Amino acid sequence: MTERLQKFLASAGVASRRKAEELIAAGRVLVNGKVVTEMGTQVDAGKDLVVVDGRPVEVQERARYLLLYKPPGCVTTLSDPQGRPTVAQYLADVKERVFPVGRLDWDAEGALLFTTDGDLANRLAHPRYGHRRTYLVKVKGDPEPGALARMVAGLRLEDGPAQALEATVHERVEKNSWIRVVVGEGRRHLVKRLCEAVGLDVLRLFRPEFGGISVAGLRPGHSRELKPEEVATLRRSSGMGGEEPTSTAPLRLPRAARRHGHGAPAPRPPRGDVEPESERRSRGVKPTAEPPSRGTRPSADPRSRGGKRSSGPRPRGAKPPSGRRREGPGRKR
Ligand code: URA
Repeated sequence: MTERLQKFLASAGVASRRKAEELIAAGRVLVNGKVVTEMGTQVDAGKDLVVVDGRPVEVQERARYLLLYKPPGCVTTLSDPQGRPTVAQYLADVKERVFPVGRLDWDAEGALLFTTDGDLANRLAHPRYGHRRTYLVKVKGDPEPGALARMVAGLRLEDGPAQALEATVHERVEKNSWIRVVVGEGRRHLVKRLCEAVGLDVLRLFRPEFGGISVAGLRPGHSRELKPEEVATLRRSSGMGGEEPTSTAPLRLPRAARRHGHGAPAPRPPRGDVEPESERRSRGVKPTAEPPSRGTRPSADPRSRGGKRSSGPRPRGAKPPSGRRREGPGRKR
């Protein structure tokens, strides 16, 4: 997209529009190596290299913060070498390179944050900041109270001790129960492993919110931009100032500037968030075939079209996950 040079300079924070006009008139602005003194000159922030007083102008991009209601049946990665459905299909309209904050398993559903703000993402995932993660877990039958108490007392898992901060029965549905489990870290399959360790058969896993940002009002497969106050809350709870950064770090330069060797390379996204088969085996999970490919486009999801709701939990501040799910043994993680 092209825009007038003085507007480009103003929105890049170089100077006010009037001052920018003075800079242009004074011959202090170069576009692609040539001095430009004409006011109406059009520039494309993505292509043209604009230099003021010998310094390339950085494009100020606002950091993006999105909340996705992840449906089951997709992996939390932006590209999957095995070609399975990924969360990326639900973010096709997002131009920026956002990456997920933590992960949800293939079959898990609910709140998943995405951002370009690597600093905040790292802090949200870091146990040091003690972000609580609340899950509603559908388990087979009626858990005995002792099972939930053991989860809270602490257990030894194969990768060390672990515990739930809270574990309570949330709701009983037909022959099964929804339990509410709160944990303080994001270790892989932690909630499922805690449940299994106390003899609970997990049928479904739903995360109604993350960092206090709820999926209430969103349909599975849909996402929304966080409100500024939500970003401020996340930043404060992560030990950062409440102010949103005006740009990602490092600032993204126009492609032309990067071609000319200005600026650091863009950060690499975190490694694919797919559990390797070796890890699955170490958890005693039999090697599985590829997850079945189902119609997972948002529009193909019957739940997105107001399909019949199944008996879900009644999470506070979030609609229960809806839609019919196959239950019972053989479900994948
Ligand atoms: N714990 C799990 O077992 N799975 C998830 O997806 C998240 C937490």
